[in-house]
Amino acid sequence: MAVTLTINGQSIQATGGRSLFDYAEVLGIDVPTSCRKQGKCKECIVEVVEGMNALSAAAEPERHLTGSFRLSCQTCVTAEEGNVRCHTMRRGQMRIERHAFGLPVDNRELKLDPAVTRDGDRIMIDGVEVDRSTGPILGIAVDLGTTTIVLRLVDLESGELIADTSFENPQRFGGSEVMSRIAYDTEHPGKLLMRTLAGYMTRAIGEFPIDPKSVYEMVVVGNSTMRDLFFRQSVYTIGQSPYRSITEIEMTEGKRATTSLIQTGMRSLLPIHPRARVYGGPVISGHVGADAAACMLAVDLAHEERLIAIMDIGTNTELIVGNKHRILAASCPAGPAFEGGAIACGMPALDGAIESVAIAENGTFRLGVIGNLPPEGICGSGLVDVLSELLRAGRMNHMGRFENEAHRITLHHGRAPEEDVFLLESDVNELAQAKGANVAGLRVVFSTYGIDFDDIEVFYLAGGFGRHLNIEASKRIGLIPNLASSKIVQAGNTAIEGATTALLSKSKRQELEDLVKRVQHCRLETHPSFFDFFVEGCQFKPVEPVACAT
Ligand code: FES
Repeated sequence: MAVTLTINGQSIQATGGRSLFDYAEVLGIDVPTSCRKQGKCKECIVEVVEGMNALSAAAEPERHLTGSFRLSCQTCVTAEEGNVRCHTMRRGQMRIERHAFGLPVDNRELKLDPAVTRDGDRIMIDGVEVDRSTGPILGIAVDLGTTTIVLRLVDLESGELIADTSFENPQRFGGSEVMSRIAYDTEHPGKLLMRTLAGYMTRAIGEFPIDPKSVYEMVVVGNSTMRDLFFRQSVYTIGQSPYRSITEIEMTEGKRATTSLIQTGMRSLLPIHPRARVYGGPVISGHVGADAAACMLAVDLAHEERLIAIMDIGTNTELIVGNKHRILAASCPAGPAFEGGAIACGMPALDGAIESVAIAENGTFRLGVIGNLPPEGICGSGLVDVLSELLRAGRMNHMGRFENEAHRITLHHGRAPEEDVFLLESDVNELAQAKGANVAGLRVVFSTYGIDFDDIEVFYLAGGFGRHLNIEASKRIGLIPNLASSKIVQAGNTAIEGATTALLSKSKRQELEDLVKRVQHCRLETHPSFFDFFVEGCQFKPVEPVACAT
């Protein structure tokens, strides 16, 4: 008798005594580690999705893990039969947006002005010698997302993009959204979230075709929590009203001139040059972080005369509205529903995820699945499509109620009932609330600015989710305003683009520092109409300009 153990989709017959890590090695699966199974590095985490009771009890080194997460080097198969399914924190094939599209500025045309320069074999940062080498001078731009991490390697002398990589944020063992991560970091001393991420980033940098010691500068952006976790700042205050980072508090008190952060390569725990500079871009305010700031640089907001909006839909949707004369920003606590979190059959944009849905004339579902595989679940863009199609076909009303008082709609029948992919009415409620938070944010920012949706000349949908949305479906369900489609730019990863700009140009970095100080932060929770806007936004109907809506 043996247990069928499936790791990252590959199966093996497992008997007692060997760890999940051992079996992963037999299967040729790369498990992150820097302690070689000693239970010290905490990097070998796996998420167990089936068969936890067939595994050994949690060991002492796993104290920091809860729920379905285990250290694979500490976990053995103990049952004699059954099934165990798990995956490493770095699942393959996730669709992560690494690039930006439709922006007014192209980094390839940027005037190079990096902080790291060469004089013979002397390599200097802002004129201070940090090394002697005739090798290349490299830099890395990083976008630390709550869900995904993107690294981009560039040659600082030529501006050439050498390589890039992306992976899921392994910190999800501490929760799927920022508030859970803040609670986790506060309750678990030892900077485990940072150390785990540093382990994964070390591997990613090690896979680049370079000597990591040639990396002399990094520019890191991310929302306030992700950035500050990386820089080993306490994030406790970001989780408490009025939701300010330590750097923002210190700046308000006159103790610092910028919310940006700097540390050495050595302190970052990464394999780059120990005297490299790691620059954390400035955060705007509250949860509106350095990633949103980098987006402003990417769309050249400092020189923009037109009224533009940037919306990065995610666990925390960020909104920026304005032009070179006036800029407003807000963060909307949408939660993970549109990323597949809290949805019965939700999943990230991995192979097997339903990414597009259409209802045919005969009422059947036509599904587009990533990797052309049998459907396993549904990701964000598929959820938007299915809601839109159910509305269009009259099978769901504006309030999110299914026809005939049904509570479940099956999108795909699997070989066994547990393989069905379906949408529950309770899922629709989760999506309604996520949407409600986004719409409330839009209404608050636009009304504070004193403009209406149709005053906007360019509406940038930033981020990987925005890039893959069906625009007409998004407008139909009211996820984005009902604007002319010609005004909408699905811009992709503008945060990594802005981070790269700041890496290649000192003057642009200064522009970023100046820009964030001019942003007026709208605190949604204090706006008198927030609740009314939220309730309106929970309905599945187009979000019209106020003039049309009244
Ligand atoms: S391999 Fe380091 S803790 Fe498991």
